Amino acid sequence: MDASEKKRQVAQASLEFIEPGTLLGVGTGSTVNCLIELLPTIRGRIEKVVSSSKASSELLEAQGFEVITLNEAGAIDLYIDGADESTKRLHLIKGGGGALTREKILAGAARRFICIVDDSKLVGMLGTFPLPIEVLPMAQEFVSQRLVKLRGQPVWREGFVTDNGNHILDVHDLQITNPIEFESRLNQIPGIVCVGLFANRPADILLIASDTGVREMRT
Ligand code: 5RP
Repeated sequence: MDASEKKRQVAQASLEFIEPGTLLGVGTGSTVNCLIELLPTIRGRIEKVVSSSKASSELLEAQGFEVITLNEAGAIDLYIDGADESTKRLHLIKGGGGALTREKILAGAARRFICIVDDSKLVGMLGTFPLPIEVLPMAQEFVSQRLVKLRGQPVWREGFVTDNGNHILDVHDLQITNPIEFESRLNQIPGIVCVGLFANRPADILLIASDTGVREMRT
């Protein structure tokens, strides 16, 4: 089975978790795009939608969903999003699509966070995928120097501006043995807006598509 079929299958499997009256948070990326395509099949179960990016908002609106802000929503029943890497403990690297800050906010505001991935994303240790970090543009060089001291190799995602008007540093060569501690440590560096490490708030449920079907892992 190819990767795009796995993405479609795992997106389909996540629909079962959407109960009638759900205030749904929607993430960003190609796996979530499959979910957005499928959402009209269960339109009646969705009360309202909050989105983690301009790109997802546009797709949701094209499907006829009214997208409200988190401020209007207050809280989210269920947040569904993809990831770039996940461990068995459901610690994640996210932000390959550059939407990590809004994604982390929605994950934090959600009563339940379901992460949908194909089996290529499941890893023993986080860090093979370069860790995305959103930074204030004026602090980019300063933050890069701090990251080098932590033995990372930050690479500016040149030409990319986030929905919040900031830059992304993709940090290579990390071996993240303690994701909770490392996330907290990075959060202390001034100029960092958000770290694409989701360990202090991991996913609650991981749905993984493989050749043999979709399986579930929980924290
Ligand atoms: C976007 C993300 C995505 O969830 C992550 O990059 C996975 O994307 P895809 O489903 O396209 O593999 O964090 O910021």
